[in-house]
Formats: sequence, C-alpha cells, structure tokens
Amino acid sequence: MLILRNNDGLSVFIANAEKAGRKIGFVPTMGALHEGHLALIREAATLTDIVVCSIFVNPTQFNDPADLEKYPRPISRDIELLHGTGCDILFLPEVGEIYPQDIDTSLSIHPGRLAEVMEGEFRPGHFEGVMQVVHRLLDLVRPHILVMGQKDYQQVAVVRYMLEATRSPVQLHMSATIREADGLAMSSRNVRLTPAFRAIAPVICQTLAEARELIGRMAPQEIMDQAIEQLTAAGLTPEYFRIVDGMTLEEVSDPGQHEQIVACTAAWAGDVRLIDNMVLRP
Ligand code: PAF
Repeated sequence: MLILRNNDGLSVFIANAEKAGRKIGFVPTMGALHEGHLALIREAATLTDIVVCSIFVNPTQFNDPADLEKYPRPISRDIELLHGTGCDILFLPEVGEIYPQDIDTSLSIHPGRLAEVMEGEFRPGHFEGVMQVVHRLLDLVRPHILVMGQKDYQQVAVVRYMLEATRSPVQLHMSATIREADGLAMSSRNVRLTPAFRAIAPVICQTLAEARELIGRMAPQEIMDQAIEQLTAAGLTPEYFRIVDGMTLEEVSDPGQHEQIVACTAAWAGDVRLIDNMVLRP
C-alpha cells in the first residue's frame, strides 16, 4: 500500500492507472477506521482493479467545532488496519491540499429537502460540507466507482443527487451496514461510548428491527412515537426516528404508496451522537 499525502503524487499515480486501463475504486473516510470501513474497501476491491482510500477529517462538514476537535485521529492504527484489505493507495491530505487558497472549491448545488430533513435539520450545513469534500476528492481521485456505506443512508442520497446534478460519470455503490454481534452499527464514535451507554446502544438497532416488523400493521406515526418512547426509556436521548421514502426521504404516512421505505434515527448516548437506519421495505 502506497501512502500519498499530496495531490501531485496522487495525480501521477492516477494518470498511470488510467493509461493502463485500470478500473479505480474510491472509499472516502475520515479515519478512525473500523470493520465497517474495511468492509467497504474489501467490497471496492472486488469491483475494481485499484482501490484508493482517503482519510481526511473534513472541517467543512462539522457544524459543531467541539465535535471536530473530539473526532478521533488514530492514524498509525488506521494504516495498520488498512494493510491486507486490498487498499492500494492511502490518500492522506492536509487541509491545504483539499482546500488550497488559490482554487475555488465551493459548490453551489442545492439538494433541497434531501439535505434539510433529519441530519440536515439537526446538523445545518453538514451536507453542503460533505458534498464539497466528496466533489473535490472525486476531482483528485477520478474513480470509476465510489463506495459508501448504508450506515449514512442520507449522506448516500445527497451524494447521489450531487453526482446526478454535476453529470458525473462516477458510479455510486452503497454497501450494507456492518454491525457488532449485538446489532450496534459500527461507527468511529462507538469508541467514545461509556461502558454503560455501550450496553444500552443496541436498543437503536432493536427499535429499527421492530419498526421493520410493524410496518404495514401499524401506522407509521404510531411506530415512530413508540420508537422514540422506547429509545428514551432505555436511557438514550433521541433526536429523531423517521419512517421515510427511500428515495425522497420524505415521511411516509401511507406505506402502500411507497416502493422503498427506510427508518432512520439519531440518538445521543451520553455525549456521543449515534445514527442508524434500516430498510423496512426494499
Ligand atoms: O462518511 C464520512 O466519513 C464522511 O462524511 C465522508 C464521506 C468521508 C466525507 O468527509
């Protein structure tokens, strides 16, 4: 695995790969890697000839400076974990490489409601930052396939919109969420959970699974109310639990009217914010 820290080195490598007709897969991350990220890289390796993974803690997608500061950055451990996953290039840029003073990296794309509901409501500006950095990284990496995790379902929907709006040729591949044995979705934030909240946190996945059982038998509003009660009773502080259309992310009132239905939730476990989702009807 080659570690590249600047755009010039990356650009030479990518140009050579393109000349050789190799198919490039890209997995963008913010580091603090776990089995979920490694699964994305392994999946990218099955789909493409060369896998590029980036680790860049993107300042423009954090609406809370404290969250940016607290974000874990265990870089040597990340590098160790990447060995043997099929990652060919680790791109490890500094802020100045991604957002140089002399290049306008801003993006004026407005996905509307897709970026305003759920995470957009509680993290204003977050998806603008995500679109900006993914767009910039795609410009640098020039992959054929972009691999992202279902864990961030709304992020995938917003990036899909961005790719369509910019007429990007990049193919977006969404990989299934990887869970701990007790159902907790793997996340870089899990390491910050206290033992007590770690024990409670699987209730998030249980509540989503219950929603999957209940959809079609109980009104979505009742399921959502019950889920909020259940998460609260367990000791979490839920921000939202929504049953939404899988494409528009608008709330579902009549499940019969929708082809794809997803339940998405965010809840605080102490001072750690966890998100998760489950497809209720594929
Ligand atoms: O999902 C993440 O880790 C980030 O939002 C991403 C896609 C790497 C952009 O910074």
